[in-house]
This record gives sequence, structure tokens and C-alpha cells, in this order.
Amino acid sequence: MNKWILLGAAAIALAFVGPAQAQQPIVIKFSHVVAQDTPKGKGALRFQELAEKYTNGKVKVEVYPNSTLYKDKEELEALQLGAVQMLAPSNSKFGPIGVKEFEVFDLPFILPDKVALRRVTDGALGKRLLKLLEPKGMVGLAYWDNGFKLMSANKPLREPEDFKGLKFRIQSSKVLEAQMRALGSIPQIMAFSEVYQALQTGVVDGQENTPSNMYTQKMHEVQKYTTLSDHGYIGYVVIANKKFWDGLPADVRTSLERAMAEATKYANEISQQENDEALDEMRKSGRTQFIELTPDQKARWKKALTPVYSDMASRVGKTVIDDFEKATKATGTN
Ligand code: LMR
Repeated sequence: MNKWILLGAAAIALAFVGPAQAQQPIVIKFSHVVAQDTPKGKGALRFQELAEKYTNGKVKVEVYPNSTLYKDKEELEALQLGAVQMLAPSNSKFGPIGVKEFEVFDLPFILPDKVALRRVTDGALGKRLLKLLEPKGMVGLAYWDNGFKLMSANKPLREPEDFKGLKFRIQSSKVLEAQMRALGSIPQIMAFSEVYQALQTGVVDGQENTPSNMYTQKMHEVQKYTTLSDHGYIGYVVIANKKFWDGLPADVRTSLERAMAEATKYANEISQQENDEALDEMRKSGRTQFIELTPDQKARWKKALTPVYSDMASRVGKTVIDDFEKATKATGTN
């Protein structure tokens, strides 16, 4: 065939394909397990809005909340397989895929407050931990806050002895398992979406979670007592499928990074208020009775939980624990 005819045909084909391709947005499926009305739920929606805005519609973000696509463990597998592109699992959920170091965040009473938390997540250790995700086919984009945890059950939990023999739902973290065993209770790993029903039917006796998670899942309606223990923390690592992320056009990736930086700032600004409001709502509902620990009681919780640190040092890494504690105790940013 004549060269000019071929070139002409190619030009016509391009004229049709070009605009059609330009109209096809890159789709990011962002799956998560909590309600929209939570720090993570709102953070995901803010990212969606900003990502679409900053890429001028070249990217479309589909947010799937409430485990509508996948439960906890499945969503990580789905991300690795590329069935979804983004997630924000809690720090406690990376053990089953072989990244145990994030469980350092689960050590009881390791975080005094959110200022100390920022020194970990924004500092050298935070960056080092994110790097560990890369060999697993993931890229760590940001840390998003939820908050400090409460303990609930159908009996009052004031002293470590009160936990004896109770079955507790936990996330899939060996540190949380060790924590519950140190208190004499029986830990049971369970997906977040199944907790309400398990509490309601008595499959488990108690659970630990943040106020916003408890309230939005109505856990307070099926737990007679809730202890304001602040014994641990739940936060998230926002992750993307690495192949997908690295394969994005550079300008798109830069715009998404900008959207993520702003969504992160927003999510971390609202997390405390979201949890305070959830706590207020639960108080107002009168469905669960709140228990404050006296300083002596809290000291006894801490003492009972101290062995978890040495028991878990080989799993989480002694250096990780030491660096975490150094960062939390440092003054100023590290
Ligand atoms: C849980 O499983 O309790 C939490 O990690 C859920 C979440 O994502 O906040």
C-alpha cells in the first residue's frame, strides 16, 4: 500500500482514538472498612475531591466505604493484586502480609499524645516504616490519624483482673494479641465489619476501638460499659499499589501527591474533633456507662501490660521500639 495512504489512515485513526482516550479518566478505587462519617471516611472523600480537581478530571476516585468491596485482610490482598488502587488500613493490619514493624503503634501506652505521634510519623522512623511496604508491592503515601482507644464489655473494666476469661475482638496484630493475653483475656481476631454482630450475639464479650469507630458502628448499644482508658492508638497508613502509582504520568502523580498532602492535613486536623463528638453522642445516648480510671488503676493497667514490650521485641524489632520511644520523648521535631 502507498506509504501516504497508510500515514493518512493512521492519522484518521489517531483523530478518533486520541480524543476518546483523553476522555477516559484513570480510575482509582479507594476501598476502606469504616463509615463515611469518620476521620478516615472524611479523609478519603477529601482526597477524592482534591485529586479530581488537581488532575482536571484526568483521575476519577471511587471511594468504597464500610467494607462494601472488601473486608480487612481481603482488601490488602486486593491491593497487591491490583483489584483496587488505594487503601488506608490501620497500623495493626500489616502483620499478615509480613510487615510486622507497624505493630509498634499497638504497644500499650506507647504514645503519650498526638504531638509525640507526629514526631514519629513525620520523622525518620515514619519514613523508614513506609519503605518496608515497597517489597510488598505497595507504596506508603501518608499517615492518617484516628485516635486513642477505649475498652468496652458488658462488665465494668477497672482493674486488670476484670479482663480475666473475657473474649475480646482484636485487629490482626500479634501485639494486640499479647496485650489481651497479658490482661488474662482471650483475644479473637475478627474483621471490623463483623464486630457489631459478634458483640450483639455474644460471640465476643468485649472490644477496643476509638470513639468514632465505636459510635458509627453502634457498638455502644451492645456494650454496657466503656472504659476511658486511652491505652492505645489507631491510625492509618494510606497506601497505593506500587506498580499503578509508579506507572502514572508524572504530572498526574504530582497532582495526586498534592491532593494527598492536603487531604492528610485535613484528616489529621478533624480526627480529634470527630472522636470528641462521637464520645459526646455516646454519652448522650445513655446506652453505655463510661468509666474513668483513677491514677492508681491506670498505673496497674500499665504494670500489667509492661511485659508486652519485651515479649514483642523480637517480632516488632527492638530498634524500632527504641527509635519509636526516642522520637516520642524527644523535644521538638526529629
Ligand atoms: C478496626 O478494625 O477496628 C479498625 O482498624 C477499623 C478502622 O479502619 O479504623
